[in-house]
Amino acid sequence: MRKLYIIGIGAGNPEQVTVQAIKAMNTVDVFFLLNKGDDKSDLVQLRKEICERYIDRKTYRFVEIADPERDPSISSYPHRVDEWHQRRAAIYEELISRELGEEGRGAILVWGDPSLYDSTLRIIDQLIERGRVSFEYEVIPGITSVQALAARHKIILNGIGQSICITTGRNLAATKLRDEADNIVVMLDGNDSYKDLVDQDLTIYWGAYVGTEKEILLAGRLGDIADTIRMTRSEARASNGWIMDTYLLRKSAL
Ligand SMILES: C[S@@+](CC[C@H](N)C(=O)[O-])C[C@H]1O[C@@H](n2cnc3c(N)ncnc32)[C@H](O)[C@@H]1O
Repeated sequence: MRKLYIIGIGAGNPEQVTVQAIKAMNTVDVFFLLNKGDDKSDLVQLRKEICERYIDRKTYRFVEIADPERDPSISSYPHRVDEWHQRRAAIYEELISRELGEEGRGAILVWGDPSLYDSTLRIIDQLIERGRVSFEYEVIPGITSVQALAARHKIILNGIGQSICITTGRNLAATKLRDEADNIVVMLDGNDSYKDLVDQDLTIYWGAYVGTEKEILLAGRLGDIADTIRMTRSEARASNGWIMDTYLLRKSAL
């Protein structure tokens, strides 16, 4: 039977790829690469470098596919995302049946870990539900950007006995969550949502391109460094064409 590996590759440092991932990658015939456009081609390049570096058997191939755009005419956010996932599912359906033989092995290399703000497993569920192509699959965990951020700042994410909330910039801006949680990790924040928080005494541990050669780390009292982060972020984004940043907000002092 065809087999598909969903492999977490870490958040940008090729040395975060696990031994389990390397073993699986060495059995793969076809790597499916979803290309999100020119500005993020660094991310596709890193996946290729990982394969080059860790796969001994050079018989594998890459199949690159353009990631479909979300349809801006669908006003409801969940519907827009769902419709986008359906189109991605249709693409994978075709690729699996076209590119993998009955015993073929394919892989999708997921940034960080597939369990965190990544839709690949949702798409796999949709493929199974549609039932048009048969395959088995295995998920291989990777180092998340959250773990990479904590390691680079040399911090524990929670205070003793405290909880951690992981959320998005959109949620941080829209909810009161920030009043309840002692430690909030924020991902996918394109709008510098930290700068509008009422409590500027929070400590922020910010990191962009964590684990890569472009890495930038900043930490301090939010009120003191919010402007520096905003400017650093905007300059880095302009010069690299893309940015991925994550931060921890904490109530206790540095
Ligand atoms: C679509 S999510 C993918 C998360 C990924 N699955 C993970 O396990 O980290 C993309 C977000 O992850 C965060 N991110 C991913 N890689 C990062 C990195 N190297 N440095 C900082 N943040 C990163 C950013 O918040 C970015 O907006």
